Amino acid sequence: MMINTIHLCVIKSPYKCTCTVIVSEVIMKNKEHTRQVRDTVVKKFKAGFGYKNISQALNIPRSTVQAIILKWKEYQTTANLPRPGRPSKLSAHTRRRLIRDAAKRPVITLDELQRSTAEVGDSVHRTTISRILHKSGLYGRVARRKPFLKDIHKKCHLKFATSHLGDTPNMWKKVLWSDETKIELFGNNAKRYVWRKSNTAEHTIPTVKHGGGSIMVWACFSSAGTGKMVKIDGKMDGAKYRTILEENLMESAKDLRLGRRFVFQQDNDPKHKAKSTMEWFKNKHIQVLEWPSQSPDLNPIENLWKELKTAVHKCSPSNLTELELFCKEEWEKISVSRCAKLIETYPKRLTAVIAAKGGATKY
Ligand SMILES: *[C@@H]1O[C@H](CO)[C@@H](O)[C@H](O)[C@H]1NC(C)=O
Ligand SMILES: *[C@@H]1O[C@H](CO)[C@@H](O)[C@H](O)[C@H]1NC(C)=O
Repeated sequence: MMINTIHLCVIKSPYKCTCTVIVSEVIMKNKEHTRQVRDTVVKKFKAGFGYKNISQALNIPRSTVQAIILKWKEYQTTANLPRPGRPSKLSAHTRRRLIRDAAKRPVITLDELQRSTAEVGDSVHRTTISRILHKSGLYGRVARRKPFLKDIHKKCHLKFATSHLGDTPNMWKKVLWSDETKIELFGNNAKRYVWRKSNTAEHTIPTVKHGGGSIMVWACFSSAGTGKMVKIDGKMDGAKYRTILEENLMESAKDLRLGRRFVFQQDNDPKHKAKSTMEWFKNKHIQVLEWPSQSPDLNPIENLWKELKTAVHKCSPSNLTELELFCKEEWEKISVSRCAKLIETYPKRLTAVIAAKGGATKY
């Protein structure tokens, strides 16, 4: 209450700088006198004087008198008590759960956290939740769109770029590029916030579910156009990946007339690099392009993913069945010339990587 009084003084004073000095003096004086003043207030109150009378006699605001009396009634003392802070509205269990949820799914929103805590009977304001997360070192940050490149990754990118810079355009025409991506039903490309420790810089994949869910697809393409696209049902593992390759790789290569001696590109996901998968490639005499880790900039399919997602969301799919249908339709619609252009300009991409010393590029 005393503090409130001082604030009023700050606001009213037209001289900010001078006022700062006054404020600190007031606080100092308060520290010296408050206990005494408070004792006098209580004594007078006990003697039967009213708030107004005490306020006038001691020249302190009535609200202050009232606060002193209330506190004295509650604690039976006028001593300075340690500030208890705001009492915790959440149980320790709920707090742990909040922190665990945000760490496990960094893209979870405050609203979602609020709803889930309300479900277990702890209804609190969102600011309370964010305060708890801050205390544990988790802050809302804009999700990184690109992976954080460690020096080792940059080195590998640079090595890849320099070693392939001399490749003929024909070599790139023989590559079948592949990747998996998640497509959201109600996705948007807006900035996305994630919970993360201030200094961590790991790649944050935007995998938010906007209620409607999402699907995961695998697809491939070459300079001659888009290959097959399949929806991945359930969790992807090595065996599932091999099945996808089994059912789609050779057929796509054939459709795109890549010939027998084509090169297959995939990233270094452990599911792609499983021993049995590598053996499968060997048995099929499929050459696999040695690929640097953490290098979406180097995979031209990333550009197609972006264009595909924009096109699909323009169709406004209303459920996951439609989403899959539109994905496949829009994938097929991507023109051969678009694919050819991406591959024609591939050497430019390599020079950009070299110029960036292996770091991130505009691609
Ligand atoms: C407070 O009350 C006492 C006793 O009724 C009275 O003598 C005194 O004048 C009052 N003081 C003020 C400031 O009203
Ligand atoms: C998905 O939406 C389409 C168009 O609104 C509808 O015809 C179809 O029945 C829906 N499918 C499911 C599984 O809800």
